[in-house]
Amino acid sequence: MLSVENLRVVYQEVISVLQGVSLKVPDGEITVLLGANGAGKTTLLRTIFGLLPVYDGKIIEGNVFLDGVSLNRFHSSVIVKKYRITYILEERPVFWYLTVDQNLKAAAFSRPNREISGEIARVLKIFPKLGSLMNTKAGFLSGGEQQMLTIGMALMTKPKILLLDEPSLGLAPLIGRELFGIIRNLNRDGLTIFLVEQNAHAALSVAARGYVIEGGRIVLDGTAQELIHNKDVREFYLGVAGGDQQRFRDAKRYKRRKRWL
Ligand SMILES: Nc1ncnc2c1ncn2[C@@H]1O[C@H](COP(=O)(O)OP(=O)(O)OP(=O)(O)O)[C@@H](O)[C@H]1O
Ligand SMILES: [Mg+2]
Repeated sequence: MLSVENLRVVYQEVISVLQGVSLKVPDGEITVLLGANGAGKTTLLRTIFGLLPVYDGKIIEGNVFLDGVSLNRFHSSVIVKKYRITYILEERPVFWYLTVDQNLKAAAFSRPNREISGEIARVLKIFPKLGSLMNTKAGFLSGGEQQMLTIGMALMTKPKILLLDEPSLGLAPLIGRELFGIIRNLNRDGLTIFLVEQNAHAALSVAARGYVIEGGRIVLDGTAQELIHNKDVREFYLGVAGGDQQRFRDAKRYKRRKRWL
């Protein structure tokens, strides 16, 4: 199981972003992380994936554990290859000037050559649309197609755990729904998923458990059902009105602090 324990992370030695975060991503489940802009979601994914040094960030306390082994000091390439964790960045990176086929092959750098064609066939089964785009340059794909490609590229590394940073961002609702269906199917096929999302409704509908992070601290956690029914989550993340006067006043103050509302 992937877990983080009491993680404290700073950028540029002084900017404190994660202030003692602990959470668990149980094997075989979808775990969701909700939080406002700037709460530290992406920073947590960078930390798990060994990317902090790239951003001048550092763990000053705590650990990322996989089955009891601390991953703190490992480079991302080791985390992909040995520990089978893959991270899809918020920016959906693809090689724009390479074709879909070349992108998928490039992503398979950690795999033996003999396995690559079988793996591409598996990805195309999940994303049949990519099949007709194999010779198209990735730069010409639509946002939804690019997101399919990044997930396809991630699958080429044969992950056990997938870290997804806001996969539905900027996608049309219909494409978003299709995407969450795919996420659910990948999980049913055994993939463990840690999902950072702003689309709380869609995320909680596929997840088993979830956490809410605010100002670098986990302020709430529970099963997806518990979170869906939680008053604050309903109000701040699901846009469902409710609560008495006192709560409403609190909510207004709360909302002013949030850039996402
Ligand atoms: N490389 C960096 N150097 C300094 N500060 C950074 C760096 N990267 C992020 N931050 C700061 O850390 C805080 C958390 O950023 P992070 O990207 O983790 O938030 P987030 O929850 O992913 O937000 P969003 O929903 O907007 O993606 C923000 O205040 C951000 O400005
Ligand atoms: Mg982010």
